[in-house]
Amino acid sequence: MKKIALASMIISVGILGACSQEKSDNMKGMDHSNMKMGEMDHSSMDMKDMDHDKMKGHMSHDKVISLNDSTGENELKVPTLLARDHEKGIVYTVKAQKGKTEIFDGTESETYGYNGMFLGPVLRFEKGDKVKIRTINELDEPTTFHWHGLEVSADVDGGPHDVLKPGEEKVLEFEVTQEASTLWFHPHPHGKTSEQVYKGLAGLIYIEDDHSKGLGLPNDYGKNDFPLIFQDKTFDSKKQLNYSAAKNEDGTIGDTLLINGTLNPKLTVNKEKVRLRLLNGSNARNYTFKLNSGDSFLQIATDGGFLNEPVPLQEITLTPSERAEIIVDFSSIKKVNNLALINEDGAVLLPFEVTDQNGVNRKIPEKLNDFSLEDNVMHLPVTKKVELFGMMDMVTINGKKFDPERIDFTQKQGDTEVWEIYNKPDMMGGMIHPFHIHGAQFKIISRDGKDPSKNERGWKDSISVKPDEKVKIAVQFKHKGVYMFHCHILEHEDNGMMGQIKVE
Ligand code: C2O
Ligand code: CU
Ligand code: CU
Repeated sequence: MKKIALASMIISVGILGACSQEKSDNMKGMDHSNMKMGEMDHSSMDMKDMDHDKMKGHMSHDKVISLNDSTGENELKVPTLLARDHEKGIVYTVKAQKGKTEIFDGTESETYGYNGMFLGPVLRFEKGDKVKIRTINELDEPTTFHWHGLEVSADVDGGPHDVLKPGEEKVLEFEVTQEASTLWFHPHPHGKTSEQVYKGLAGLIYIEDDHSKGLGLPNDYGKNDFPLIFQDKTFDSKKQLNYSAAKNEDGTIGDTLLINGTLNPKLTVNKEKVRLRLLNGSNARNYTFKLNSGDSFLQIATDGGFLNEPVPLQEITLTPSERAEIIVDFSSIKKVNNLALINEDGAVLLPFEVTDQNGVNRKIPEKLNDFSLEDNVMHLPVTKKVELFGMMDMVTINGKKFDPERIDFTQKQGDTEVWEIYNKPDMMGGMIHPFHIHGAQFKIISRDGKDPSKNERGWKDSISVKPDEKVKIAVQFKHKGVYMFHCHILEHEDNGMMGQIKVE
């Protein structure tokens, strides 16, 4: 890792043409092992002419900012389940607002939230519901309400074209036609998405159906079924989320992890199988989650539905906007002291406190779904090519930046087409881009010609694409209209790494 970070810095220096080779060589001699943003001695590197912001970006994409360990002093907050206004019409009200939140004891931070001051409630739909949502913008700036992963027509998808000005409201109507899954919602005003999400605009959507309710999975919300929204932040000395100070064009990351908005969280569970619905709701950080005991867990769902069978894993990586549902069996884990969910660097993300109480003893079904990748689909020719390229504010898709007036692709409603997503490396190797398409759940056909891993054989709406990797996906839209596809590093999205598809 250290080597890569250094290498990319050196090459970036070359690319930007700000330093001579000689200076790059000097940099090689420096010890970068514990380098954090701001700690570098810029003067000694003679980077007078160098764009410090670009430099900063580079370093962050190699994850130089590591996460602080959670002390576990606060019990995890669980978002409220949003009540329906009327049972019959299934009407919800979702309000974007601003306010103050006591994230740190005794200090108020300025935040955004839905129907509250920070983050949002969970909207629980059932397949077949005809939903009406009254969306209201009570912010001082324009916003949109985007339902990430929901298969609805583009006019209610809440992309950058559906802006609500301050004080405006709009009623949306759609039918829930897709299967049980964990989706989410967030704003999408072009150029401002990253800042608004960073300040706290994000909430969850649960879809249930008859099948999911009959599986006998843990589904006691807040008891053995918990959402975990992972977001890393930087707080300034006044404990504020100062986005412009923290901002990094290549993806803003921070040293402080909040889970469901909880600082230093811990989760108390009984000795039973617990379902965790993980959402990487961060602007840019990737996480590889594992248990510090080395125990495995079961992944049961991807972004858009259940896997066919539970997949045992020792770790799982989620890039921004990806979800996974996992089952951790706290009755069979031996090590109960200091048990925690950790990341790839060993940072403690979420300590668990396991009580003496035995919870429900249940079996996780061996068959959860009947997801399939049909032969004829697998052998369709590639008809859409997406090339992701660049870094910082120089990011593009197929060599172009987002233009709200330009339609990049068209596809027929109901047709399945194979898209090839290619992450074109740059001279310094490049970085992972999480690729997302609105309005559709899709299937991964292959990664670099190989079958996707078992835990990716399910519905996806976001995928990680590594440098030089080619991912083939089968995409079908059930509804019409203009949808976005983009990199879900929110700063890349805001910087134009986004295109539009018109479904007719
Ligand atoms: Cu999660 Cu275009 O969005
Ligand atoms: Cu989306
Ligand atoms: Cu990107």
